[in-house]
Amino acid sequence: MKILAFETSCDDTAVSIVEDGCRVIASVRVSQVEHSAWGGVVPEIAARLHAENWPGALEQCLTDAALTIEEIDALAVTQGPGLQTSLLSGTTAASFLSQLYQTPLIPVHHIYGHLCSVFLERDLKSVSFPALVLTVSGGHTDCYLWESPTDWKKLGGTLDDAAGEAFDKTAKMLGLGYPGGPVVSQHAQLGDRRKYDLPVPNLGKDSLNFSFSGVKAAIYRLVETHKSGLETNTDPLSPDFINDVCASFETTVSKIFVKKMITAMTQNPTVKTLCFVGGVSANTYIKKGLQDFSQQHGIKFLTPTKIAYSTDNAAMIASAAYFLHQQNLELGKIQHVESNPKLTL
Ligand code: KG4
Ligand code: ZN
Repeated sequence: MKILAFETSCDDTAVSIVEDGCRVIASVRVSQVEHSAWGGVVPEIAARLHAENWPGALEQCLTDAALTIEEIDALAVTQGPGLQTSLLSGTTAASFLSQLYQTPLIPVHHIYGHLCSVFLERDLKSVSFPALVLTVSGGHTDCYLWESPTDWKKLGGTLDDAAGEAFDKTAKMLGLGYPGGPVVSQHAQLGDRRKYDLPVPNLGKDSLNFSFSGVKAAIYRLVETHKSGLETNTDPLSPDFINDVCASFETTVSKIFVKKMITAMTQNPTVKTLCFVGGVSANTYIKKGLQDFSQQHGIKFLTPTKIAYSTDNAAMIASAAYFLHQQNLELGKIQHVESNPKLTL
């Protein structure tokens, strides 16, 4: 079954065609560089650019796949959560095509898409259930118990910042630009991982919630102290300082995740797989920490096969739609979008 999906929850216009939930036939992403001048995503600009970009992205995707739209079995689209204006662009495009070509349309929860990103370019049986899933990106940091492809339960989530957001804010405080994840990770490789003792939050021994505000505040204080030692406040931060802060930060985030996974495994001893998904799962150091943890516990470790499937993409939405379609779930025509969809996720 070939599903063509749109993902426009933030500032990328992504279109993909995936066969049977895992075989990626074509995947196109048009990024919106226009926001960098504003220091953040501007909703109106994002919506305008999605509206301008989706027809070209769709055409490119069909050309790459050597398919016509009539050969597509179903359409899928991210319903939420995300930026309302951006979501509306994608759902409007998908609804229009669904009516024009009389093709079923499957709305998908963005986070469920991230869960299914581990199936892309893998065998559908590669996840041994039950699985634990850590979904970590710029907008979310959640832990799920995943019992079958369409059966999941949230075990915990962040009480404040998402981990990706903490990477982005750390980069900003150190003057390293946006997005913070990749650049902080590069500097971390050059730094001393034990230089600064950053706080690992204690939210109660059974809690599977997360918090990154304490780490962020500690970094703010380190940067302020370092700046006060410089001759003028326009002097650049020392490269060693930047590398050591990045290394200590990345190490602390990794510790936080491993600590939570120990709690999650204790509470869910039948778990057979740990999945690490979302933009932060592109991080080699954190990935290695979770992989070692999985090995020690004798469980399988899965993360998306490509960085492009860790960050937001439409292939994961097509994969999720395949499982919903198999179960006859969430089929229908979208009349509206919800930035906080009331699905059972
Ligand atoms: O999943 P994603 O593309 O978008 C959201 O749904 O938010 O995740 C983007 C986030 C950003 O915060 C970015 O800094 C982070 O993922 N990220 C990373 C890395 N690559 C991207 N964080 C840590 N290490 C990386 N290598
Ligand atoms: Zn995402």
